[in-house]
Amino acid sequence: MKFVSVVGARPQFVKAAAVSRELRKRHKEVLLHTGQHYDYLMSGVFFDGLEIPAPEVNLGVGSGSHAHQTASMLQGIEDILVAERPDWLIIYGDTNSTLAGALAAAKLSIPVAHIEAGLRSFNRQMPEEINRVVTDHLSSLLLCPSETAVSNLFAEGISKNVHLVGDVMLDVLNWARERAQAKPAEILDRLGVSKKSYLLATVHRSENTDDSSRLSRILNVFNSLDEPVIFPVHPRTRKALAGKDYELRSHVRLIDPLAYLDMVTLADSAAMILTDSGGLQKEAYWLGVPCVTLRNETEWVETVEAGWNALVGCDRDKILHAVRFFVPRDERPPLYGDGLAAAKCVDLLS
Ligand code: UD1
Repeated sequence: MKFVSVVGARPQFVKAAAVSRELRKRHKEVLLHTGQHYDYLMSGVFFDGLEIPAPEVNLGVGSGSHAHQTASMLQGIEDILVAERPDWLIIYGDTNSTLAGALAAAKLSIPVAHIEAGLRSFNRQMPEEINRVVTDHLSSLLLCPSETAVSNLFAEGISKNVHLVGDVMLDVLNWARERAQAKPAEILDRLGVSKKSYLLATVHRSENTDDSSRLSRILNVFNSLDEPVIFPVHPRTRKALAGKDYELRSHVRLIDPLAYLDMVTLADSAAMILTDSGGLQKEAYWLGVPCVTLRNETEWVETVEAGWNALVGCDRDKILHAVRFFVPRDERPPLYGDGLAAAKCVDLLS
């Protein structure tokens, strides 16, 4: 069978690493990169580090408003789908690249398989939530990472071709951990930090970056902590910080975005993770590192229910309290599958 897979943003490269590897054992895949993320540190470094095959197509769409970005992707993806006529289109997650892929294929009657289907924050202010809802309603095969995701789809009347497969990000984390453990933790030396002596922070959601009072509140909290805060900065956040007068103390270390293996090593050795990323909340759980989530809601509710993730928004006192006093439970039951989700996805597609 022939598949076109659409990727465009950093978390999709990670997910595609697991699925492309499995898919190409049995089928033909055309990997289509929309070019949503284009800096080497946001894109190329993942293809190199995760051994993802080079994309057959790169639309080079780049930045723009949501409508401009999505519209350029739609046109480019349609051309490729018309030329390739695949049996299926595969899309991942909730970005503008996901939405454009789903819409282009559905209008050409090409069935759509959505990996990471059914997630909901129930917050329509998030562009990702709009992308998720529309994408799921256009998809023919819905591959869910959790029971909650399956129930969310049922609640919206989507019950056909819904499958619980687990999370392909766990497959990739296991693969990367094996490789990361085989070599010395060079990234810790490079940053001059030792195991469990620092906090790892990431902030890139538009709800936190586009509102300067929220971003400055978060940075002020980082300033008032005692431990080193290692903060790999997403380009969206870098732009939001540019030209603003945030005075950061020297223990708050803004660094360039990291390659996946370095990020896994740094996450694994952190005393705690503070983040608004979806992927990092799960990675923290799987690695057994307590997580403080800088959002008001999460799609990964199981990590909160299991007692390993504290949902605090950007409230100063709540963040400080969580950093000082949040102690995860002793138990950490398996969540989001068994690390073999990619093979399950490909079985269902086959
Ligand atoms: C996108 C996804 C989000 C995902 C995130 C992962 C949407 C709506 N959002 O958000 O779900 O969690 O990716 O990173 O699709 N930029 C660069 N260099 C790059 C990439 C981006 O400078 O390589 C700049 C862009 O010019 C833009 C900003 O960063 O101004 C944001 O990029 P954009 O693609 O709009 O969305 P993300 O915030 O990355």
